[in-house]
Amino acid sequence: MAEYWFFHPKFEVKARAFLAELPEPEVVHNFQIEKLDFVSAGTASSQIKLALKRLGVAGEILRRCAIATYEAEINVTAHSCGGTVNSNIYPDCIYLQFQDEGPGLEDIEQCMTPGFSTADDSIREMGFGAGLGLPNIKKNSDVLHIISEKGKNTLLEIIIYFEADR
Ligand SMILES: Nc1ncnc2c1ncn2[C@@H]1O[C@H](COP(=O)(O)OP(=O)(O)OP(=O)(O)O)[C@@H](O)[C@H]1O
Ligand SMILES: [Mg+2]
Repeated sequence: MAEYWFFHPKFEVKARAFLAELPEPEVVHNFQIEKLDFVSAGTASSQIKLALKRLGVAGEILRRCAIATYEAEINVTAHSCGGTVNSNIYPDCIYLQFQDEGPGLEDIEQCMTPGFSTADDSIREMGFGAGLGLPNIKKNSDVLHIISEKGKNTLLEIIIYFEADR
């Protein structure tokens, strides 16, 4: 499978219209994510969290954004050859694009299954590799879109709306 979509039912219509139009964001941040650099890993997600906090995004939403962003950043660090994250903040949502240079996900549905991981021992020794990152991203996001194939680049997109009532 080369593509995966998840929409929280409450936001599906709004999110599809947003993705079709892709309006200009209010605040943009771009970060590089280096392969296996676990010293820097987490920098992008903490900067994005700080930006959201400064804009007044609070509590539960901030927590969900921080978790989803961190898990996606760690995945690029641990499983890819390196990549980037573009964070686009709008008045009512955050739209994140994680792009990496491969090696891609062989079977996206399988990778979404809690407990599935291809992490090797060196990654597991650091406490990662439980196979819970992608399910956790899905749980905390209103939209999750993944395009990937073995041997190809991966694009992972997340939208989280700043609405407490979900
Ligand atoms: N950016 C990526 N590039 C290539 N493979 C990926 C990428 N992100 C995830 N994967 C694949 O999907 C699997 C599941 O990812 P997930 O985040 O759920 O678990 P994990 O990273 O292995 O462990 P955990 O997130 O619990 O530390 C990974 O083991 C890996 O095989
Ligand atoms: Mg992970």
